[in-house]
Amino acid sequence: MVVGVPKSRVADERRVALTPHVVSPLKQAGLSVLVESACGLQAGFPDSAYQEKGADIASSRDEVFAKADVILQVRALGANPAYREELPSFRSNQVLIGLMEPLGVPEAIREASSRGITSFALELLPRITRAQQMDVLSAMATVAGYKAVILAAERLPKFFPLLMTAAGTISAAHVFVVGAGVAGLQAIATAKRLGAIVEAYDVRPAVAEQIRSLGAKVVDLALDTHDAEDKEGYAKGLSEDQQRRQRELLAKVVASSDVVITTALVPGQRAPVLITSEMVTGMAPGSVIIDLAAEQGGNCELTRADEVVVHHEVMVLGPVNLQGTVPYHASQMYAKNLVNFIKHLVKDGQLKIDRKDEIVEGTLVTQGGEVVHPKVRERLGLPPLAS
Ligand code: NAI
Repeated sequence: MVVGVPKSRVADERRVALTPHVVSPLKQAGLSVLVESACGLQAGFPDSAYQEKGADIASSRDEVFAKADVILQVRALGANPAYREELPSFRSNQVLIGLMEPLGVPEAIREASSRGITSFALELLPRITRAQQMDVLSAMATVAGYKAVILAAERLPKFFPLLMTAAGTISAAHVFVVGAGVAGLQAIATAKRLGAIVEAYDVRPAVAEQIRSLGAKVVDLALDTHDAEDKEGYAKGLSEDQQRRQRELLAKVVASSDVVITTALVPGQRAPVLITSEMVTGMAPGSVIIDLAAEQGGNCELTRADEVVVHHEVMVLGPVNLQGTVPYHASQMYAKNLVNFIKHLVKDGQLKIDRKDEIVEGTLVTQGGEVVHPKVRERLGLPPLAS
């Protein structure tokens, strides 16, 4: 069985689905690896590095699509704005694995099914212990949390650390992280490493201990959110009343922060609006907000995806692909997750799609000319499939 990696044609996407580090484990699992020439160059991986590990180099994209049984991509279908140009390259029954925005752009999934592609959407991986080593969203959120702080430090007209110099004492910057999931915890750790005074808030009381263990202070809003966590460990939406109260209480902390990093997410919902424009007006000029939830509508009322909004001299940034700005390590992490996923599917060098397996069932979106994932079918207005 051949796994193939075409070069990404998505503008500004520098990540690659496989890195040379994972060629050997794939070969040990009985697979051949075929990568399009220069597919990893923008992430820092030349063809020679793949060749040294035993991968074959294809001179054209067509060769990859013609020879590979499984196509691996970072941004496929709905995650690639030009996916329609790519669809004719696939053969019926070819397998596609990647990020593909199955719930955001379900039409792309429908089009893939009508071409007979068997596709797995990594966004839908269940967050269960067994799947942790395959969890690309967590890996990418780690990269984004780190980079959000670097971006804030670059835009803030202040130092992050406390400095005692002959030119006087400089006080440390105050960083406030809202939402302490994967991205938030990495943002806390990075801001601490840069010497800032860090505070953090999350609706799930269970994360308080993790915030403290990173050396940050937990902001307690004295809101009763004990039922804010579902059985999978995700946040549930708050009531209108709880949200209003939350914004009132957050306003004071936001006003005293130099940097606010927001990462609040409730799966499947628009991002909760936690920072109003009035709260931004209350911040000191020069302060910076990095809103990681920009793609889901933003945690700040002023956020515009991939833009910088300046309001009362406060900068509000809504970057949507921070992981793509650290392509070397983001690719390395993505590739490692992907190989763990593939190894889970492959038995004796062949792909075995066992629909009784929770990981397969959670991620398989198209098979045999059908959209098979219940949530994607619902988005498309299709009736449930007979089990
Ligand atoms: P996560 O699910 O691990 O964390 C989200 C956190 O938000 C949870 O701890 C949850 O309890 C908390 N939360 C939910 N509602 C809240 C509220 N009302 N107040 C306070 N906290 C609340 O998600 P993860 O993986 O950390 O991702 C966070 C966000 O970052 C997502 O919106 C994700 O799409 C985005 N992201 C953005 C990237 C970018 O480049 N802009 C890259 C990767 C992720």
